[in-house]
Amino acid sequence: MLKLPSKNQKIYVLVKKSGVVIYFTTSNRHKYLEAKEIFRKNGLKLGRISRDYTEIQANTLEEVVKEALWHINRKKVFIEDSGIFIKALNGFPGVYSRYVEDTIGNRGILRLMRDVKNRGAVFRSVVGYKDSRTKLFKGEVYGSIALEERGIKGFGYDPIFIPKDYNKTFAEDYRLKQKISHRRKAIEKLAKYLSTSQSSFSYRRERMIAHAETQSCTCRGQVIYRVKTRLREERSSSEGVD
Ligand code: IMP
Repeated sequence: MLKLPSKNQKIYVLVKKSGVVIYFTTSNRHKYLEAKEIFRKNGLKLGRISRDYTEIQANTLEEVVKEALWHINRKKVFIEDSGIFIKALNGFPGVYSRYVEDTIGNRGILRLMRDVKNRGAVFRSVVGYKDSRTKLFKGEVYGSIALEERGIKGFGYDPIFIPKDYNKTFAEDYRLKQKISHRRKAIEKLAKYLSTSQSSFSYRRERMIAHAETQSCTCRGQVIYRVKTRLREERSSSEGVD
């Protein structure tokens, strides 16, 4: 009887072996590269669909992401929406971060923040993943708005955001950003979910086949054949069940 690999086996190696590719729909190259690195570290493969998704006007990032996912007609794909929420401006620019960046930019934000003492802000990220069902993952990083733009790395609001307990902006210390960013937190949650999810049938199949491949038996082909047959039987008996 073929056994499933134990939970503590390095599942990410198995997923990697199976060659499953998850796609990130984004027109932002920086976001893609950040995500790709996180996926790589978790043994997962990431591809990119280089385009924007339908972005509705809504009050929360979650609403924007849910609606956008609804318009996407493929599986094993995720999108990410993010923004900076400034306390003294009652959360502005928040869901309007992109528009504000394209219009008044960092200088405009700094003008709005002139003479403001409470400079607290938070970067938020919501990742929406679509497979047979959809799932959201959130990440946040708290900090403050700098008095002027500093640093040349990163993008968007990085030159004016100083994470809590540090004194450099994300644009000055990009390595730090890669370690603690809102997006990293949300995408790591997704990567963990993908690595450990046992509910997906196809995922289980990949794990079992990969497990068979790791066996040092001479009848590897036979083992894989048995796994495939068993899964085909399971699939036909579970068809229609969510
Ligand atoms: P969107 O998620 O692509 O809609 O981006 C929202 C806005 O927030 C854009 O203007 C981005 O430049 C900005 N933004 C999102 N994430 C970051 C970040 O990690 N650093 C700096 N700006 C960001």
